[in-house]
Amino acid sequence: MKIVVIQGPNLNLLGHREQNIYGPMKLEEIHTQMENIAKQNKIEIEFFQSNLEGEIVDKVQECIGDADGIIINPAAYTHTSIAIRDAVAAAAMPVVEVHISNIHRREEFRSKSLIAPVCAGQIVGFGPFGYHLAMISMTQILGEIQAAKEAQKVQAEA
Ligand code: DQA
Repeated sequence: MKIVVIQGPNLNLLGHREQNIYGPMKLEEIHTQMENIAKQNKIEIEFFQSNLEGEIVDKVQECIGDADGIIINPAAYTHTSIAIRDAVAAAAMPVVEVHISNIHRREEFRSKSLIAPVCAGQIVGFGPFGYHLAMISMTQILGEIQAAKEAQKVQAEA
């Protein structure tokens, strides 16, 4: 099983940017914690961050045939990018959307996500712990998919 974690624009500045909103934790620290959870669950994990919309679209496309699930924080592109939404829909695999801040209690333009309707679920407002929750959710989803596949196989063999 492989999960790809995709981080959008300005998330490379976590720990520095607007600490009152995003807290003091750096992106590398968040990724180390996710890596530990992945190891515990014997899941392969890859991290990717880009400030460019097209690079994020390319990365989602690369996941097709290479990954089993995607955890994505599209950052500001959440509210604007039809291209990322279309890529996520095309990927046809479980995608969990994460936001560190509660986008629903900030400026009105942040409360709309173009990505959420094509995701398995959205985790918002729990700070960096949201990524931990996303790992738990994704592990659960992938486990259910695996179990369904095995049940199908048993049925086919019967
Ligand atoms: C964010 C919320 C977005 O509105 C914002 O543009 C970000 C970060 C979050 O994680 O809370 O860059 O995605």
